[in-house]
Amino acid sequence: MGSSQFLIILLLSFLLNFCPCYSLPLCTDSRAPLPEKTSLTFCPYNGTSCCSPGDDKQLKTQFDAMNIADSGCASLVKSILCAKCDQFSADLFSTSSAPRQLPILCNSTTSAISTQSSQATNDFCTKVWTTCQNVSIMSSPFAASLKGQAPTPVKSNSTKLTDLWQSQNDFCNAFGGASGDGSVCFAGEPVILNTTRPLSPPGGLCLEKIGNGSYLDMAAHPDGSNRAFFTNQQGKIWLATIPDVDSGKMLELDEANPFLDLTDEVHFDTQFGMMGIAFHPKFSQNGRFFASFNCDKQSWAGCAGRCSCNSDVDCDPSKLPNDSGTRPCQFQTVIAEFTANGTASQPSEAKTAGPKEVRRIFTMGLPFTGHHGGQILFGPSDGYLYFMMGDGGGTGDPYNFSQNKKSLLGKIMRLDVDSTPSAAEITKLGLWGNYTIPKDNPYIEDKELQPEIWTLGMRNPWRCSFDSARPSYFMCADTGQDHYEEVDIITKGGNYGWRIYEGTRLFTPPKSPAENTSMISSINPIFPVMGYNHSDVNKNEGSASITGGYFYRSTTDPCMSGRYLYADLYAGAMWAGTESPEGSGTFNTTEIPFNCAGNSPINCAFVPGSTVPALGYIFSYGEDNNKDVYLLASSGVYRVARPSRCKYTCSKENATDIATPAPATSPPSAAVAFTGSYKNLAVLLLSFWLMVVS
Ligand SMILES: *[C@@H]1O[C@H](CO)[C@@H](O)[C@H](O)[C@H]1NC(C)=O
Ligand SMILES: *[C@@H]1O[C@H](CO)[C@@H](O)[C@H](O)[C@H]1NC(C)=O
Ligand SMILES: *[C@@H]1O[C@H](CO)[C@@H](O)[C@H](O)[C@H]1NC(C)=O
Ligand SMILES: *[C@@H]1O[C@H](CO)[C@@H](O)[C@H](O)[C@H]1NC(C)=O
Ligand SMILES: *[C@@H]1O[C@H](CO)[C@@H](O)[C@H](O)[C@H]1NC(C)=O
Ligand SMILES: *[C@@H]1O[C@H](CO)[C@@H](O)[C@H](O)[C@H]1NC(C)=O
Ligand SMILES: *[C@@H]1O[C@H](CO)[C@@H](O)[C@H](O)[C@H]1NC(C)=O
Ligand SMILES: *[C@@H]1O[C@H](CO)[C@@H](O)[C@H](O)[C@H]1NC(C)=O
Ligand SMILES: *[C@@H]1O[C@H](CO)[C@@H](O)[C@H](O)[C@H]1NC(C)=O
Ligand SMILES: *[C@@H]1O[C@H](CO)[C@@H](O)[C@H](O)[C@H]1NC(C)=O
Ligand SMILES: *[C@@H]1O[C@H](CO)[C@@H](O)[C@H](O)[C@H]1NC(C)=O
Ligand SMILES: *[C@@H]1O[C@H](CO)[C@@H](O)[C@H](O)[C@H]1NC(C)=O
Repeated sequence: MGSSQFLIILLLSFLLNFCPCYSLPLCTDSRAPLPEKTSLTFCPYNGTSCCSPGDDKQLKTQFDAMNIADSGCASLVKSILCAKCDQFSADLFSTSSAPRQLPILCNSTTSAISTQSSQATNDFCTKVWTTCQNVSIMSSPFAASLKGQAPTPVKSNSTKLTDLWQSQNDFCNAFGGASGDGSVCFAGEPVILNTTRPLSPPGGLCLEKIGNGSYLDMAAHPDGSNRAFFTNQQGKIWLATIPDVDSGKMLELDEANPFLDLTDEVHFDTQFGMMGIAFHPKFSQNGRFFASFNCDKQSWAGCAGRCSCNSDVDCDPSKLPNDSGTRPCQFQTVIAEFTANGTASQPSEAKTAGPKEVRRIFTMGLPFTGHHGGQILFGPSDGYLYFMMGDGGGTGDPYNFSQNKKSLLGKIMRLDVDSTPSAAEITKLGLWGNYTIPKDNPYIEDKELQPEIWTLGMRNPWRCSFDSARPSYFMCADTGQDHYEEVDIITKGGNYGWRIYEGTRLFTPPKSPAENTSMISSINPIFPVMGYNHSDVNKNEGSASITGGYFYRSTTDPCMSGRYLYADLYAGAMWAGTESPEGSGTFNTTEIPFNCAGNSPINCAFVPGSTVPALGYIFSYGEDNNKDVYLLASSGVYRVARPSRCKYTCSKENATDIATPAPATSPPSAAVAFTGSYKNLAVLLLSFWLMVVS
């Protein structure tokens, strides 16, 4: 990458207000570092790096042109240039005040981050100054940050640090810095995270049951209050009030009076329904929100879009199988905008929404009946709408859509819903509705990509979330085919491998021609960071399907803090992933036991000897404005509670949480509670399971 391009990208990331607190390994263009097949010859970064051999060559050229006579200074400058290749380069080059062309040079020893030799942390900035101050450097990279200041005029292109800076203090004021909360500095060597003592695994997850309803999605009210929206698969959205932790109260949700009822538009069938909702970050001012659902064009005129099976992607819609008399692309995936304006004086006071669709954002016909994800989320640091889409169904992605850069199936999309495209723009870019394309979507660098695409190679992303403490951690669980259920960290332009890979192993499609070896080597897949084998959960039932959750950030269970929670939808098993070291993107996972709090508002004591999973099926997770985490299961809504309420040991509990449990309302019989819910939900469960798994 050229240095001007590099600067533009830095500038762009800055203007787009990316969080300066990266800790995930990320490159300056916000892509994930990738393992290079050929090792770099100039820069000392073997294995996973942000540089290609081409970048490495360019850095060598830049370095040679500097013509540095002093070998001590030369090696320091080389290490600084090569920091662009570091897996943490996004972090090294980020700053809250201005874009940087050079990494932050470690200025102090108080560092949470260490390098290979602890010697190197000893004030690297001072070392650079003392070693290089009198050394001439052609086109000095240190001259770049003089813009806006008034240094001594420079007569030639060859400069010494002393020509540019009065003193070490001046120099280190401009380039120095320390590792701090979620940021790293450069100390002359590849960044290696301080290995922290691994956290002991949590004793267990304590749950309290606060609702009986079965929901598919939950979104905290954007006004920060103790309210949240819940949606069901049939197409209703409710606004509910969440009881205080330990209050012994239940979710207040008025079944009869939904916030919005879209059941007339939503096609609810075995594999279809309302898949997600998202509230505009400025909902409290503009009242805008979005629903993602499926519709049937045979029964609703508003359900008409282009078919995702078309000649651009080598798919002939007339040859699609049409079991039970369905037409090609009869079922569509839709994102529609609604408004809470006009139903109350302020959008945040609204108890209902306007029933009329305000704007159609997206419509696309689906090739089959499964794997169409459908979750929508606003990015917390960029305000764009992320739209998760599966491969469209069938075993083994029969049309090879997930790897096809022209298809939106098997992708995560990133859309700007704050401006309306012109008709010309829609035609030129081949858009699927009323949205525009963020200027830094990856198609800018890869012209083969459809402009909506943020990542490719997904199979059926089933529940994604942004870590509320670290927005660069965009986590997605992706359901597997035959062997492995995975959790990915989603990064710009990343290829998560499907259907070349399932998890980390090569996948052989059953019918379509197998991939040739050139295809395998032409992709650089990003492998999952967590997951489990089907054999871990399918002892009895033979199948598995992952449900992604959240990084736990509430204080309610301090022993769960900072761990990523996920579950198997079908087996009712749960896991916690602990990142170790923190900031490394590497996780240690353990299956965690869970239990029902003794004083749960609705009794949820597990039925001894029951063959059904204790909670029923775990469809989804939710997070409220206090960062408390919820499980949306077929049997009801559960909240993670204080561990002591389940007699789990957590030594940190009393230190950080001094609330005393309130007496719970007297619970009904547990056995009745569970069998009752199961009968009512049997059909929905089976069908839902089919949708996600098959
Ligand atoms: C990188 O790998 C190459 C070949 O494996 C080796 O020759 C070189 O010394 C390595 N460089 C570093 C800095 O580890
Ligand atoms: C690692 O971090 C801990 C706590 O922040 C600190 O006490 C320790 O000195 C660090 N170790 C290294 C090698 O930097
Ligand atoms: C650099 O030059 C200054 C002033 O001429 C001198 O005091 C200092 O010792 C020199 N430093 C080195 C490392 O040569
Ligand atoms: C200094 O750099 C400028 C622009 O890069 C170039 O035109 C000029 O020839 C250079 N001068 C010397 C003395 O190298
Ligand atoms: C770096 O250290 C110098 C003193 O050596 C100090 O003046 C300067 O403020 C420090 N810079 C930063 C960014 O911490
Ligand atoms: C993973 O966690 C287990 C249980 O706490 C621990 O024994 C093991 O050392 C951890 N592994 C790593 C790589 O941290
Ligand atoms: C809602 O009202 C606000 C304030 O009047 C306005 O800015 C916004 O565009 C309206 N939103 C919709 C979706 O009509
Ligand atoms: C699909 O069904 C329609 C109507 O039922 C029928 O006319 C058409 O021939 C069928 N197409 C295929 C490929 O089976
Ligand atoms: C844009 O939104 C309007 C209003 O909902 C709708 O009539 C139109 O069809 C949409 N355009 C596209 C391309 O979806
Ligand atoms: C799958 O798609 C990729 C990308 O379009 C292509 O390179 C590959 O050849 C395709 N595989 C098959 C078997 O069609
Ligand atoms: C926490 O406090 C409660 C009430 O004071 C006490 O019953 C419980 O044993 C304490 N738990 C721990 C782990 O110290
Ligand atoms: C939840 O279901 C149980 C068992 O059917 C019932 O006793 C209880 O009243 C229900 N609670 C609510 C809030 O509907």
